[in-house]
Amino acid sequence: MSKITAAITAVGGYVPNFVLTNKMLEGMVETNDEWIVSRTGIKERRILKPEEGEGTSYLAIKAAEDLIQKRNIDPEEIDLVIIATATPDSMVASTAAFVAAEIGAKNAFAYDLLAACSSFLFGMSTAASYIQSGRYKKVLLIGADKMSSIIDYTDRTTCIIFGDGAGAALFEPNEEGLGLQDEYLRADGNGRKYLGMDAGGSLMPATEETVKNRKHFIYQDGRTVFKFAVSNMADVAEKIMQRNNLKDTDVTWLVPHQANKRIIDATANRMGLDNSKVLMNIHRYGNTTSGTLPLLLADFESQLKKGDNLVFAAFGGGFTWGSIYLKWAYN
Ligand code: UT7
Repeated sequence: MSKITAAITAVGGYVPNFVLTNKMLEGMVETNDEWIVSRTGIKERRILKPEEGEGTSYLAIKAAEDLIQKRNIDPEEIDLVIIATATPDSMVASTAAFVAAEIGAKNAFAYDLLAACSSFLFGMSTAASYIQSGRYKKVLLIGADKMSSIIDYTDRTTCIIFGDGAGAALFEPNEEGLGLQDEYLRADGNGRKYLGMDAGGSLMPATEETVKNRKHFIYQDGRTVFKFAVSNMADVAEKIMQRNNLKDTDVTWLVPHQANKRIIDATANRMGLDNSKVLMNIHRYGNTTSGTLPLLLADFESQLKKGDNLVFAAFGGGFTWGSIYLKWAYN
């Protein structure tokens, strides 16, 4: 019997309707379109407004429904729903459990997975392991974040970067050797002082003081995070290539976390890849945290061909980072 690999067999995506442009941000904080585009590559991002829907679950449900409808699967066949997110609907109650119920995955168990911007990448490893072990046949991994819920729109160092969005990928067994081939995943908790949110967790529960001092918003030491992101994302992507004897000509697509176009360019450069092989939508959505990788797959699905070699790479808070090599499984 041939070895079972874990392949992505369907994808879906969703971004909310409201478009927050650089021009609009110019009226909110001291910034300008030229600075934002040249430093990040971002032109606009999407924001989930209350009149459209509430919570990360709204985005996740929409992305899952897109996948289910395109692939025409019965939600009752799904064994497990994992939501990769840094912005769950609330503490304690699982966002994934709610999403599973709403999409009709009534036979699935469900939980959330949190590793900041690397959540979806790490979730790919988790989803694939369940499939490779033979334990489950359909694992739905959704990367979703409503970043606008933790952004301070008076802080120009963060509000220009992040946006809301979600993407979904279905993992199923494959007997042709397609799907996840190799992974190199890393973490270094010393990085948590450079990117995070101080209050709202067990370390600093919410008080009047924490609200007054704006501690429930994300902060980042951009310059330091940038340096770590550039070197670490390129290092892991290069390592995955070396370990699998992949030359630049063997890599069909780089699927990079969309945090900053300059970080993406540096990674592609180290891998020796031409721009035409780099999937990018940062100009339209900004950094959607857990949503970036699956949204790329959803946006570029029609260009992905069976057998294509995809190298994923991400870097995020924690610090967390890594790279995954996957063979695309369908046309
Ligand atoms: O996804 C999770 C991981 N996160 C990342 O990977 C993000 C990594 N960091 C970055 O992408 C970049 O560091 C930023 C986009 C956040 C900032 O770009 P930068 O080139 O590192 O800028 P900087 O922080 O070094 O700031 C340069 C200047 C400063 O002014 P001075 O001190 O040189 O006078 C800032 O005050 O730009 C100023 N500045 C701005 N100016 C206009 C900072 N933010 C803005 C802004 N508009 N929005």
